[in-house]
Amino acid sequence: MVKNIAVIRGDGIGPEIVEQALRVLDAVALRYGHTFHYTDVDMGGCAIDKYGDPLPETELQKCVESDSVLLGAVGGDKWNDVPAQLRPEKGLLRLRAGMGVYSNNRPAKIWKQLSAASPLRQEIVDKGIDFIIVRELIGGIYFGEHKTEGGVATDMLRYSEAEIERIGRIGFETARKRGKKLCSVEKSNVLDSSRLWKQVMHRLAEEYPDVALSDMLVDNCAMQIVKNPAQFDVLVTENMFGDILSDEASMITGSIGMIPSSSLGAGSCGLYEPIHGSAPDIAGKDLANPIGTILSAAMMLRYSFDMPQEADAIETAVSAYLDDGWRTADIMSEGMTQVGCRQCGELIIRKLREEG
Ligand code: IPM
Ligand code: MG
Repeated sequence: MVKNIAVIRGDGIGPEIVEQALRVLDAVALRYGHTFHYTDVDMGGCAIDKYGDPLPETELQKCVESDSVLLGAVGGDKWNDVPAQLRPEKGLLRLRAGMGVYSNNRPAKIWKQLSAASPLRQEIVDKGIDFIIVRELIGGIYFGEHKTEGGVATDMLRYSEAEIERIGRIGFETARKRGKKLCSVEKSNVLDSSRLWKQVMHRLAEEYPDVALSDMLVDNCAMQIVKNPAQFDVLVTENMFGDILSDEASMITGSIGMIPSSSLGAGSCGLYEPIHGSAPDIAGKDLANPIGTILSAAMMLRYSFDMPQEADAIETAVSAYLDDGWRTADIMSEGMTQVGCRQCGELIIRKLREEG
């Protein structure tokens, strides 16, 4: 197959982690006889420096016209003082909205090789951590009206039934393919938008009798994620709750550098990115962990290109790399061998070749 991939290297460690993911994709293309064309797209701080805009329309267009987008990371202290409309993060939000990717899938899974890295007590970890947060990505308070006037700041949180229903369906479908347990997370004891959320989820539940739906208030959920993460299979929640809970969920796996994500809308064109940030403090030092980006590329193969075998091959190679005791600095522990970003990519590619 021939696929066109828009590549956003971005800021900080973005370029170096993306480089390794592209090398892994090239190795997959070679092994399975595919052709991947890459088109570079400027977004984030680097685009602010170049065009005075974190995502010019021409750059967004390249993404919309691609078969999928691979993104490293954007942002950094350098752009902290630019006006809100021009922040690197604004580019990311515009990209998500422009691509219409309303469904963000963030897995929280502990790698058996890294279970000691979790900050949770071992007995909690041993019960297993393997759940997915399905986060609504282009609605809610992120995209409501923002204004500051006369010393009063307002951010509007609104959701329509249609917006809730389409993300709800993704939650049910995701659960259906896994453990058949869906937990809908909201704040219906306080917010109207959450009461509507809950109503829509229960209406949908009638169409998915094979999936067990439960409700949880977001504050309780934050607590349950550290108390008993094994209870969760799939969580579905609105934009800002999902932002916060997914950071918490990644932390308990002990390796935020390893976690990929996918964002999809109505079509097959998706946005794939690691969930970590641009880590400017270690940028350019060959210290970053490229695995979150490499696994995001694997998700792209699985969900947008319908290449499950190729995706499995990457995930197996990553696991074999960890089995051999190689670790980037972020997950380094006693008795393991430390490697840099580039060598990590190389070792994973070597594993891929050995598999084939
Ligand atoms: C994330 C990030 C973004 C978000 C920021 C950078 C706008 O925190 O992807 O979780 O809040 O969605
Ligand atoms: Mg976040």
